[in-house]
Amino acid sequence: MESTEERLEDLRRRKARSQAGGGQQRVDAQHNKGKLTARERLEYMLDEGSFQEIDALVEHRCRDFEMDKNVIPGDGVICGHGTVDGRPIYCFAQDFTVYGGSLGEMHGLKICKVLDMALKTGAPVVGLNDSGGARIQEGVASLGSYAEIFFRNVRASGVIPQISVIMGPCAGGAVYSPAITDFVIMVDKTAHMFITGPEVIKTVTNEVVSFEDLGGASTHGSKSGVSHFTADGDEEALGLARQLVGMLPSNNMEKPPLKRTSDPADRDCEPLNNLVPEDLDKPYDVRLAIEGILDDGAFLEVQSEWAANIVVGFGHLTGNTVGVVANQPNVLAGCLDIDASDKAARFVRFCDSFNIPLITLVDVPGFLPGTNQEWGGIIRHGAKLLYAYSEATVPKMTVILRKAYGGAYDVMGSKHVRADLNIAWPTAQIAVMGAEGAVEIIHKNRINNARNPEQERERLVEEFNETLLNPWKAASLGYLDDVIEPQETRKRLASSLAMLLDKEELRPARKHGNIPL
Ligand code: HXC
Repeated sequence: MESTEERLEDLRRRKARSQAGGGQQRVDAQHNKGKLTARERLEYMLDEGSFQEIDALVEHRCRDFEMDKNVIPGDGVICGHGTVDGRPIYCFAQDFTVYGGSLGEMHGLKICKVLDMALKTGAPVVGLNDSGGARIQEGVASLGSYAEIFFRNVRASGVIPQISVIMGPCAGGAVYSPAITDFVIMVDKTAHMFITGPEVIKTVTNEVVSFEDLGGASTHGSKSGVSHFTADGDEEALGLARQLVGMLPSNNMEKPPLKRTSDPADRDCEPLNNLVPEDLDKPYDVRLAIEGILDDGAFLEVQSEWAANIVVGFGHLTGNTVGVVANQPNVLAGCLDIDASDKAARFVRFCDSFNIPLITLVDVPGFLPGTNQEWGGIIRHGAKLLYAYSEATVPKMTVILRKAYGGAYDVMGSKHVRADLNIAWPTAQIAVMGAEGAVEIIHKNRINNARNPEQERERLVEEFNETLLNPWKAASLGYLDDVIEPQETRKRLASSLAMLLDKEELRPARKHGNIPL
């Protein structure tokens, strides 16, 4: 019979084997690539000493290809829970030193257990991905486990925040778990995501492309919109994950955590009085307005490099987490296009799922014209944003800074899609379209028949500007609750938010709506 000491020794030996992962040589190889190991990553991300591992002793059941002689307890993924700023989260980190972090049956089921526990306890999940994809030796058992993860990601969507950090390869169908989660953070140069790799692409389409160009962080951060944040190294990525978790509620039944601030709620933002240029067609950076309004000027921009004609991101107002959506006059004059609509719609829906009030800053000349946009389905994509705003029941506060033209006026958090507070700056121009376009349509004959058509056009443009390109008509109809001095924006939003925090708004019961995808 074994003595107690022998049993303890046996336990320690088993745990040590699990801890060692794929061995020192592979750990060194990981470090040489500039990457932390899975365990180091979890330790860095979580509050010191808070990580509690589960399933360290799980082993694969594969007997083919001599896999029975190659069993490493833990099966290539480290799972458990810990805290971030003292608040519990569940997490997993794929260990590239064990079978290249590949996902076999048991590896996948460990991740499923984490997702199940997170859903049961209402805690966010952060997944650290670094994997060669489906474990080839395990065949369909591996695909089955993937799908079990996808199903759970979908079930948890809108219930608990899910964050994916991509810190190595993430290939094939494996990309679909991160894609379903709320935020994807990619490490520059070491993270790659793609459905089919460069070799397959070369065979099928004859295109030659590098890993980096195909699916690196910069590609997904600026071209595809798959990634929300690009990080310079593992540490920055894990810091971003912490920062995000710290701003979000643990689940959809809670409000986001309050952040202490010494920034006064009634602070004047004087520079905002001069933000919109006197020449109303000149661009400016809307981020200056956002930073002026938010507590301490701190703004965490999401997808900053993709669809930059719209700015979305998080900040705090009087300590409350808020989501900001703002047209960016500096890029494409702030027009809404396909990508901007998709980007903002998904962000609005995230905020609505997790009780995060929305602030919308409007300066939009309309939807972007062109066959590219029309044939690409701007009708369908623009409808997503309209749908998202209409569906959202969180506090919605909208400020029109300058242009609010046409359908884009309706879409961008107007009173008609049930914003709770709609205010404008005196520079606001709310109309079906800009003056130049408008007079060409409604005064075509008058201009053509005039003795001096150019002079007549100018006069009519001036008249149109004075009559319609201002906030007064909208204010007189109650579509605006007020017109304010720009410098008062923060205090007005802060006092309105205080009123709106406990707002309740119901929509008819239904299984789910049919958002135009
Ligand atoms: C089993 C794998 C593996 C995999 C890597 N390894 N990928 N084992 N299944 N999918 C193992 C290697 O055999 C090696 O083991 C170790 O991990 C490290 O791999 P290396 O190739 O030495 O590392 P590196 O040079 O850095 O290259 C990494 C890589 C490459 C680019 C990820 O390994 C690779 O291309 N792997 C295959 C990727 C792939 O095609 N996966 C399937 C995608 S389809 P040793 O013992 O030598 O250390 C997919 C479908 C999902 O995933 C479907 C979901 C619905």
